[in-house]
Amino acid sequence: MSFPPEGFALELLNRRHRRRAFSSGDLRVDAWLAQKAIPAMEKNTSTTRVLVAASGAVAGFYTLANTALDVSLVPPELLGGRPPNKPPPTLTLAWLGVDQGFAGHGLGTKLFARALADGVQVFHLVRFVAVIVDALTEANAAWYAKHGFTPVPGTVGKLYLPATTLLQIVGGEP
Ligand SMILES: CC(C)(COP(=O)(O)OP(=O)(O)OC[C@H]1O[C@@H](n2cnc3c(N)ncnc32)[C@H](O)[C@@H]1OP(=O)(O)O)[C@@H](O)C(=O)NCCC(=O)NCCS
Repeated sequence: MSFPPEGFALELLNRRHRRRAFSSGDLRVDAWLAQKAIPAMEKNTSTTRVLVAASGAVAGFYTLANTALDVSLVPPELLGGRPPNKPPPTLTLAWLGVDQGFAGHGLGTKLFARALADGVQVFHLVRFVAVIVDALTEANAAWYAKHGFTPVPGTVGKLYLPATTLLQIVGGEP
């Protein structure tokens, strides 16, 4: 799958991007991009990349963050059945969205695949035990489950993909 698709550029979010015009159909996603994604970049708490169309419009984006899974939430099979004594490191796909004007052309699926590919690169530099996604709706959760993610027991909308499975799906040596 070629990325970015022809006619688009993938860029690190900055103040020149037209993020307030972005409309994914989910106000939480739009508000994140318009108001919180830049401050989070400035605080070094997450990284947002935007897919910019030739017109300059933001067609889509995704946000990745370093996180740690609360000890009480760690699925036993993730660490070989042994409960951890400190929160294990995880990589969270915190936000993902496609503007409605660009929806239905595969961009959401491609941004998701790109986020996972970024995850593999990060893994080789700084290991983590799993990729986490926070699904906003049941439909989102079902979609991530179809793509290999498993619900984190005891949470609503949190799913995980073990790093070993990530490497199998995307490719790359452990
Ligand atoms: C979900 C979303 C990213 C899909 O973008 P898109 O570019 O239209 O996606 P694609 O063309 O690659 O999608 C192909 C199919 O997979 C679905 N899909 C893709 N990514 C998805 C996701 N993260 N969650 C749920 N469904 C998704 C699409 O809805 C579409 O389903 P359909 O054929 O039944 O209509 C976009 O509609 C969006 O931004 N929605 C609002 C915000 C949101 O739900 N973000 C995900 C947060 S967890």
